[in-house]
Amino acid sequence: MGCQYYAPASDCEAGCANTFTVAIPKITFGRGTLTECGARAQRLGLKQVAIFTDSFLATHHIIDTVCQSLAKVGISYSLFSDIRIEPSDVTVADGAKFLNSGNFDGVISVGGGSVIDTAKAAMVVSRYQDPVGAYFAPPIGGGKAVPGPVLPHIACPTTSGTGSESTSISVIRVMEYDTKYVFASPWILPDEAIVDPACCDSLPSNVVASTGFDLLCHALECYTARAYTKHAGVTNINQRQLIQGANPWSDMSAREALRLASDYLVRGVRDATDHEARDQLSWAATLAGCAFGNSGTHLPHAMSYGVTHLMSDITTEGYDTPSPFVPHGISVAVSAPAIFEYTAEATPERHLEAAGFLNADQQGATLDDAGEVLATRIVQLMKDCNLPNGLSGVGFTQNDIKALAASSIQQKRAILNAPRESNIDDLESMYSNALQYWT
Ligand SMILES: [Fe+2]
Repeated sequence: MGCQYYAPASDCEAGCANTFTVAIPKITFGRGTLTECGARAQRLGLKQVAIFTDSFLATHHIIDTVCQSLAKVGISYSLFSDIRIEPSDVTVADGAKFLNSGNFDGVISVGGGSVIDTAKAAMVVSRYQDPVGAYFAPPIGGGKAVPGPVLPHIACPTTSGTGSESTSISVIRVMEYDTKYVFASPWILPDEAIVDPACCDSLPSNVVASTGFDLLCHALECYTARAYTKHAGVTNINQRQLIQGANPWSDMSAREALRLASDYLVRGVRDATDHEARDQLSWAATLAGCAFGNSGTHLPHAMSYGVTHLMSDITTEGYDTPSPFVPHGISVAVSAPAIFEYTAEATPERHLEAAGFLNADQQGATLDDAGEVLATRIVQLMKDCNLPNGLSGVGFTQNDIKALAASSIQQKRAILNAPRESNIDDLESMYSNALQYWT
């Protein structure tokens, strides 16, 4: 079944891809591994490091650990901590200015996806001087390719969801349009990832739930994405998109991430002292990053951008962020069950397999039931993790459906990575079905 999924499409065999690339950083995983930061930076030849973090972590023992490990091997450092959740092009410009103000030969980012994504983008802006908007796809940006390498980068995640430490992707809010865009380039893949799950011990339950659904959706979207053999082939390596579709590498990582999320997500959300669960969620997030960084996500992430663009008067418990704010993982999860019910029609085997990795009840299920089986399991996990009840749970009504679809339809690359084609009417229909899942 797995091999058949990658058979070249009969209707476009001549032009479709028969090759995929796998790119991941060197990964070190385990409790206490943050103490290796200094030795690893030393091995990269670094002498003066910029540490990117957020204002909360700047005074936290996590940063103390990193600083002490650098001092131990004689590496000097300076902190840039002016990074808030959902970083913008303005934050990136500030980060680049900071990098230009010192004689830094490397960057260590310590934080969630917002911090790591800011570091990636700021290094490009600092080295090549164009604003980050130059690299977004038109019509929002200039569609420019990053010209070449940036500073060595060690990424240290402190949440278990984003997977940004494993990807060549940075998501940045563009203030002029008040919405988020994806900036992708092979040059922004971190050189090393140091994943210390102890960083997640003090995360509030709601944060673990949101980031956990982010990783769950990364893995589900990878596994159900359009196969790489159904994307256009390239003759020049620089033209191969990072969103290259499902492939055997992404499948392998996504499959394991789904199994781990199914076994440990609810435990990790309910009990902060359950180190086994939180460790496994950290590993699952890194694996899911290794997966989607090499396949791309699809409709759940594409349609999350409309949610964050149009949210109003909402905050989420556990986040020190003013209204309106819906955490990324929740913005993705609220529409996911309705979306997978829609996409299952195109590749029911894949959807049923993914449901199986999530331990869904498949008794008597046929391929026709694939979407429903998967959606039911996701909804069950949402309830168990106390997630909002669909779009209505984050303040949207039927009156918002057209605007949500109009906003998200701009995410063309991710939409084209879905196994089933969709137009704006289809997006409206999926959003309508996502308003409420239980009574
Ligand atoms: Fe995500």
